[in-house]
Amino acid sequence: MKLPNINEARKRTKNEVDYIYLNQNYDEDMFKGQKYFLRTYGCQMNVHDGEEIAARLESLGFKSTDSIETADIVILNTCAIRENAHDKLYGFLGRCKHEKEKNNPNLIIGICGCMAQEEGVVDDIIKRHPYVDIVFGTHNIHELQDLLISKNEKQNIKVYSCEGNVYENISYKRDSNIKAWVNIQYGCDKFCTYCIVPYTRGKQRSRKSSEIIKEVEELVRLGYKEVTLLGQNVNAYGKELEDELSFAELLRAVSETGIERVRFVTSHPWDFTDDMIECIAKCDNIMPYIHLPLQSGSSRILKLMGRRYTKEEYLELYNKIRNTIPNCSITTDIIVGFPNETDEDFNDTLNVAETCKFDSAFTFIYSPREGTPAAKMEDAIDMKKKEERLHKLNEIINKYSLEANKKYLNKVVPVLIEGVSEKDSSKVFGYTDTMKLVNVENAQDKIGKIIDVEITDAKSFSLDGKAL
Ligand code: SAH
Ligand code: SF4
Ligand code: F3S
Repeated sequence: MKLPNINEARKRTKNEVDYIYLNQNYDEDMFKGQKYFLRTYGCQMNVHDGEEIAARLESLGFKSTDSIETADIVILNTCAIRENAHDKLYGFLGRCKHEKEKNNPNLIIGICGCMAQEEGVVDDIIKRHPYVDIVFGTHNIHELQDLLISKNEKQNIKVYSCEGNVYENISYKRDSNIKAWVNIQYGCDKFCTYCIVPYTRGKQRSRKSSEIIKEVEELVRLGYKEVTLLGQNVNAYGKELEDELSFAELLRAVSETGIERVRFVTSHPWDFTDDMIECIAKCDNIMPYIHLPLQSGSSRILKLMGRRYTKEEYLELYNKIRNTIPNCSITTDIIVGFPNETDEDFNDTLNVAETCKFDSAFTFIYSPREGTPAAKMEDAIDMKKKEERLHKLNEIINKYSLEANKKYLNKVVPVLIEGVSEKDSSKVFGYTDTMKLVNVENAQDKIGKIIDVEITDAKSFSLDGKAL
């Protein structure tokens, strides 16, 4: 049993990161005929981890199912970014416990993802949820098969709080055969004062560019049209390594593989170089879409958040991007109700939202996370006020989302068609280069292709169009 430890997770040493080339072969018959149910919450990195977990389960003979009732193993891949994650975990555990007690005593129940890295959560699972069979952390995914094959402890818990290594030669069962996630960097060293990620994902480790390019080249060979390069701070890519490419250089190298579309997420306003902006502007297959989290429009709050930029610096970068990359869409994340955010601070956020007119934004009420510095700050602002602020901010955000989408009306834009629309099976859906969701008529036979679409209607969160 290896348990998580918040003090260990906080440490950053100069220790070299180990690059470990995995060579794992498993007996495919071990769990043949058995089914797995996997549910993933959280960011794109967790979704991509889910693709690794699925491949690992299938390497043991499991096949996927979409109901707990028909499963032999259920795995919940959790996110810890906000408090409501706990409700999701315990709601899910309640259902699994019921299923195990009433119908399937052999059901294996597993918890992984960022909540598995939280001391308090694992402690609670040990004390109050003995029916959970395995818990494995974000640094232990490669040990999943071994945990299942050699399951001899009643509750098998393996969560390293170490700073993390980089594993190569990982198999994924990708959700799409059109677009793929590619990790370029793991972990985060920024330690924004509200954020749990540096504790749950370990220190920043960049993959070697040669491995990233090899993976993208293979995806091109397999017919993929789009890759999204993943990291918590993609612009800091390679900084901790000697003789490694910068993020802009990596972007150019990925662009040269000939993949039709390159995206990346998330960019931090810190470290966003002119070279990056120029590269996005010049390379046709690097998409003109940047997710640039603001978090707050108040320089005072930004300082307390440890974000390393002021309101003015954010606006300067924002304008530089807008002026250099024509047609670029820019989206953001904003937190309201950080401890002791005043009306004046909040007004600064509203002003930045009014000035930037973001294409869209994810907005959140601040949620204290145990172990982070902000969770220790006293907070005199009540929840009702925070909710009112969120509502007010969302009104502005939605107004400008609609305005930005309306600019597309009657225009013809390239859309990568991904699949049949969930709501209306006579339509297909896809994304513009600027990451606008479009529901398209007349294109059933175009899945996997980039086609010209004329935009016929614009809503706040999507566009309608017809294939030309
Ligand atoms: N690495 C990215 C963010 C990853 S987390 C970046 O630095 O921009 C995704 C978003 O969740 C954050 O941008 C932030 O807006 C939100 N978030 C993170 N911690 C939060 C907390 N404690 N309460 C509310 N929202 C939070
Ligand atoms: Fe969290 Fe900040 Fe790292 Fe983003 S940069 S993951 S917000 S600590
Ligand atoms: Fe959530 Fe972990 Fe991602 S906390 S947002 S799943 S890095």
